[in-house]
Amino acid sequence: MVHLSNEFNCEDALKDGSYWMPFTANRHVRKQAGSRIISSAKGAYYYTPDGKKLFDTLSGLWCTPLGHAVPRIVEALKNQAEELDYCSSFQMAHPVAVRLAKRLAYMAPENLNHVFFANSGTEAVDTALKLALGYHRLRGEGGRFRMIGRERAYHGVGFGGISVGGIVSNRKMFAAGMLNGVDHLRHTYDHSKMAFSKGQPTWGADYAEDLERLVALHDASTIAAVIVEPVQGSTGVVVPPVGYLERLREICTKHGILLIFDEVITGFGRMGENFASRRFNVKPDMITFAKAVTNGIVPMGGVLISKDIYETFMTGPEEAIEFAHGYTYSGHPIAAAVSHAVLDIMEEDSLLTHVRGLEPVLEKAVHSLSDLPGVRDVRNFGLTAGIDLVPEADSPGKRGSALFELGMQNGLLLRCTGDTFSLAPPFIATEEQVLDMVETLRRLIITVTQ
Ligand SMILES: Cc1ncc(COP(=O)(O)O)c(C=O)c1O
Repeated sequence: MVHLSNEFNCEDALKDGSYWMPFTANRHVRKQAGSRIISSAKGAYYYTPDGKKLFDTLSGLWCTPLGHAVPRIVEALKNQAEELDYCSSFQMAHPVAVRLAKRLAYMAPENLNHVFFANSGTEAVDTALKLALGYHRLRGEGGRFRMIGRERAYHGVGFGGISVGGIVSNRKMFAAGMLNGVDHLRHTYDHSKMAFSKGQPTWGADYAEDLERLVALHDASTIAAVIVEPVQGSTGVVVPPVGYLERLREICTKHGILLIFDEVITGFGRMGENFASRRFNVKPDMITFAKAVTNGIVPMGGVLISKDIYETFMTGPEEAIEFAHGYTYSGHPIAAAVSHAVLDIMEEDSLLTHVRGLEPVLEKAVHSLSDLPGVRDVRNFGLTAGIDLVPEADSPGKRGSALFELGMQNGLLLRCTGDTFSLAPPFIATEEQVLDMVETLRRLIITVTQ
């Protein structure tokens, strides 16, 4: 019974493949299992079993902006587990989730007053897509079944999310299971026009007109919703051109199409505001959220929903379920209690102000890498940045992978996708930590690209 014995060795067990790692080159990782184990984390750092300290350059997977093992959050988790560890949210309610719904609605743009809880970004996206279909059907416009996503988008890995998503490697194997009738806007990135933009590119608002093209092709009467990440995160931080999101909003309103902002990454402070929609001052009809809402300590996701959509569902016989949807763990008491602790800390420590203060520090530092011969582009917005390396001839992805390995040896846990890597340091990071991260990167980029 090796899994029960004191002699259990994580490295050996990882090598045998019983643990199938998600979004991982499993066979490659198994060969170097020893260097891929994280045993603890505190504040802005991870620690390996052999005592290496790694700066958390992406705040987990964009989900731990307050750092790791925050005593107040751990305390909230323990207390809630003792008081009410679980209660079904079907037909029953508990105070901690009800209060969280009110609190999130207060933080969101003022038209979004209702919250439906899920457990992940993927589930939040599925929920929002279902709400869009139901909304139109209840209004007698059941012909509106099409969803419009965008190229390069990441909306999780459910069939809904991959259908509206735009990352080919996540789609091609599952093409047979995709939602019907989905189409995609063009992505907004054009290297020739916007490379090395600081903040929002000033060129490219016209990409929003692509929605008019799709309306002309399919007719608005068949389109239920448009879903976009205000800033595309997983594809490597693609920032919307000035005026683009505003124009998308106008076109959606004109044609009666719902606009969904997927704020799974951009929500809860990453953009220096509670939500990117506040930062860009564009009001969607729904916002999906997850990740930082609990600082990653336990899963939670959800959808913020407009009054109009909510009221449309609250019709029909009063005893009937209005929305036949929900998860065993929707509004989980522990996740909700943790979320209150997270939001308390963000407020009391004025972390949004801190993020806005760090934004120009990160911007200046990352753009100082622009002159390195191996750097193809640098982009930034809020407390996040994307950097593209020039790919090695005939071996795309090789430099990104080498940079990741070098990062592990030099105190950085990096997130690379191909030759692109994204930075999203924790909000608790100091200016010095941000500058150190970028200086280490400079050395490592020079090493991998010379
Ligand atoms: C914009 C966006 N939506 C949805 C998701 C999926 O979230 P999860 O992995 O919690 O299902 C992600 C994950 O990175 C995301 O970035």
